[in-house]
Amino acid sequence: MYRISVVPGDGIGPEIIAEGIRVLEAAGDACGIKFEWKYFPYGAEHYLETEEVLPDDALKEMEKTESIYLGAVGDPRVKPGILEKELLLKMRFYFDQYVNLRPIKLYPGVPCPLKDKGPEHINFYVVRENTEDFYVGVGDRLSSAKHSSLLEIKRKLYDIKFNIDITQDKANEIAYQVGIISREGARRIMKFAFELAKRKGMNRVTAVDKANVLTHIYSLWRDVFEEVAKDYPGIDTEFNFVDAVTMWFVKNPEWYRVVVTPNMFGDIITDLGAMIQGGMGLAPGGNINPEGISMFEPIHGSAPKYKGQNRVNPIATILAGQLMLEDLNEQGAADLVERATIEVLREGKIRTYDLGGTSKTSEVGNAIARKVAELG
Ligand code: IPM
Ligand code: MN
Repeated sequence: MYRISVVPGDGIGPEIIAEGIRVLEAAGDACGIKFEWKYFPYGAEHYLETEEVLPDDALKEMEKTESIYLGAVGDPRVKPGILEKELLLKMRFYFDQYVNLRPIKLYPGVPCPLKDKGPEHINFYVVRENTEDFYVGVGDRLSSAKHSSLLEIKRKLYDIKFNIDITQDKANEIAYQVGIISREGARRIMKFAFELAKRKGMNRVTAVDKANVLTHIYSLWRDVFEEVAKDYPGIDTEFNFVDAVTMWFVKNPEWYRVVVTPNMFGDIITDLGAMIQGGMGLAPGGNINPEGISMFEPIHGSAPKYKGQNRVNPIATILAGQLMLEDLNEQGAADLVERATIEVLREGKIRTYDLGGTSKTSEVGNAIARKVAELG
């Protein structure tokens, strides 16, 4: 029996999570796995009513469960940054989910916006570092000639304080933001990327950075990549600058196998990745702590304008459920969810508007759950 924390969140979150759970239940029935779902109310509605975003007690409760299933966060009534930082990033950091695993896979029957590219060309993983880089969120904004700030980054790995004294020629208004890469933070994400390549039989790992401009943080990133690569002599390695990656994902996606990237560039290139795999409605992600509690979510947002319409594609969330099963070592059930999804996509009868169909969110969830039962 697995206890799973569920945070449906905002906008379309509750609708897609309901379909994800329907499919996971079906896979559980087929494979003899039981789930107990523990729901948490956090998100915009809860915040607007109570001013509470995510209390520490809730994190402690989630710590008693085996995994976390998240819908989406974000709401136009809440200032940008509050729910993102205090809910989503807080969970990623608290549970030290240092891997953001985002498969970029185009399934048969899914329209791809790239001319002459099909499923045989688009099948790779982006391994996004998930706790460091510019996402550490420390910085300041000032407009005095003399200023000092105490900035702190607290992680499972370290507690770092920056005492920054600023002296300016005059009272310019400026803002700055600090990005961090640590040797250990880089090492563990590189190791995950190479281990993934090995496990999946993929023979190339590409490291993304902008080491030609952000020379401090990404020279450390590169050094660690080269060191970790030495333990995997059978796997080819290369460095790609992030700007070039956006070009190559479009021009030659078939080149890529495992792509390891710092946090912020990973955020950007996986939206591009989602588009070449058929759209945001198909792109799942896992926030993984291989030694701890992981969290699975679609990579898209809360799409507030579609809230309550039973209209959006639940497949990204369903495939996030597949990633959860894989993380729980339930490979058979994970494969079943993927095969059922592929089959429903291939048949092409039941699909939401983003894939050119007219089916409802719940019809897609139902069809995949039925297919799971049939194949299981
Ligand atoms: C994502 C999202 C988040 C991120 C936001 C909502 C904080 O864009 O998961 O890709 O930037 O990581
Ligand atoms: Mn994003």
